[in-house]
Amino acid sequence: MENNELIKIARLAQAQACAPYSHFKVGAALLTQSGRIYSGCNVESSSYGLTICAERVALFKALSEGERHFTKIAITSDSSQVCPPCGACRQVLMDYAPDIEVILFNDRGDIQEISLRELLPNAFTSNFLKTL
Ligand code: THU
Repeated sequence: MENNELIKIARLAQAQACAPYSHFKVGAALLTQSGRIYSGCNVESSSYGLTICAERVALFKALSEGERHFTKIAITSDSSQVCPPCGACRQVLMDYAPDIEVILFNDRGDIQEISLRELLPNAFTSNFLKTL
C-alpha cells in the first residue's frame, strides 16, 4: 500500500470529523498487516474531555473487528504544519502497535514519516505491569 493511497483515505475520513468546538478536523487511516484499512476522524463532545481523536477511533474500530497487527497509520489535518499524534494516542498506539510507522501530512502536501518509537521514546508498556 502506497503512502499516497493511505493519505487519501485519511483525507476522506477527515471530511467526516465532528469538530464543532475546535474546528480542527483530523483524519486517520490505519493499515493492517493483512492489507485492510480502518479509517477514523475526531469526534468531539460538548463535555470537551470526552472527545476522541481520529487515531484512536481508527485503532479502536480495527481492534473491535479483531485486528491485532498494524504496519502504518496516516494522519491528516488542515494545519499548515504536519500534525503529530497527541500523547494519549501515542500511548494507545504503543500498547497495540509498537512497531507502527506514522505518516504525517499537512494542507501543503508535505509528508513526514516517523516511527512511533521515535515519537514515544522510553514508553510505559505492559511489561512494567509484570514487575510488581
Ligand atoms: N486531535 C486528533 O484527532 N488527533 C490528534 O492527534 C490531535 C488532536 C483532535 C482532538 C480535538 O477534536 C481536536 O483535534 C483539537 O484538539
